[in-house]
Amino acid sequence: MTELQAASETAVGERSRDGYGDDRRRQGVIGRYAERLPLTAATPRITLNEGDTPCIESRSIVSTLGLGSLHFKFEGLNPTGSFKDRGMVVAVAKAIEEGSRAIICASTGNTSASAAAYAARFGLRAIVVVPSGKIAQGKLLQAQIYGAKVLAIKGNFDRALRAVRELCDRYPVTLVNSVNPYRIEGQKTAAFEIVDQLGDAPEVLAIPVGNAGNITAYWRGFREYHADGLCSRLPRMVGGQAEGAAPLVLGRPVERPRTVASAIRIGNPASWEQAIRARDESEGLIDSVTDGEIITAQRWLASAEGIFAEPASAASLAVLSKSVRAGLVPPGTHAVCVLTGNGLKDPDAARRDLAAPVPVDEDVENIARLLKL
Ligand code: F0G
Repeated sequence: MTELQAASETAVGERSRDGYGDDRRRQGVIGRYAERLPLTAATPRITLNEGDTPCIESRSIVSTLGLGSLHFKFEGLNPTGSFKDRGMVVAVAKAIEEGSRAIICASTGNTSASAAAYAARFGLRAIVVVPSGKIAQGKLLQAQIYGAKVLAIKGNFDRALRAVRELCDRYPVTLVNSVNPYRIEGQKTAAFEIVDQLGDAPEVLAIPVGNAGNITAYWRGFREYHADGLCSRLPRMVGGQAEGAAPLVLGRPVERPRTVASAIRIGNPASWEQAIRARDESEGLIDSVTDGEIITAQRWLASAEGIFAEPASAASLAVLSKSVRAGLVPPGTHAVCVLTGNGLKDPDAARRDLAAPVPVDEDVENIARLLKL
């Protein structure tokens, strides 16, 4: 056997039986990181093929910002289009293990989409409570099409969360917001993946911050890997909040949070203290960015990198860019930007000021003239 044949034999041998190639993704978060999650023999190994999202290397923004390297952890490629699927699969598995029949969450849209999908697939009832008129069209549609009971509450996310917490205290329904510890456990796997994909932790992790579960989860994930010697350093956590919804930057709750980034329109984050701890322990920062900076970052990602992320996700690039300009992130830094959700979820936010399609007839000469070909 030649060396080449031997190599290809090995490659085929490593493939899954259906010829799918690497089956890491199909194992999902629970299958791949079982030993690092709070599972028992009775926890069902469920998955919708979440996780294993790409860490996409920047082609252009990296040099504009003068960074040493820049990767985008594109969580918008999860099964329901956001990072929420990582935590939801663990929360739903534990709910099933505990004999629960129904799950509930308050949501700015992505948690509800994810809860609805996992409930549909694994035979639970899903109830989602959203701020009336304040969630992106695609996210509302997801909860509806997956068959969740959708309740719209007058008032913002913070009110909705208060209501569902009280409901769960009094009725047999499992809360699957990130105050459910299994959500954070599942979400920390994104930090593991970044290290697994890049070979080490970055020097800076830029991340949007809303209810503050995700920054808490990433920090835990990096710390666990570091404690086990799987990465040589811990990143500085650089969090981005929207200017009109920046309680962690202001140091006090915001009564009426406002921002185009509806996913992070949150005035009183549930994981407040953990987020501050992640910031301080990592010697990082949490800063605010304007809606203008968020939309500019969203367009920049799409037009310069070919990545369409939702406005809340773009807050991570906006805050990274702001921190570089302010000299808080030095040139040459190795950075990862977490892009939490898919841009297709929120067409209304992205559409603003975009050029309309140019009407043409099928006359090729006219088209060529128009295009100056
Ligand atoms: N990015 C997106 C796309 C989100 O949907 C959220 C939160 C965040 C960032 C912030 O993450 O809350 O862990 O700090 N969305 C929640 C929801 C609140 O209901 O879907 P966080």
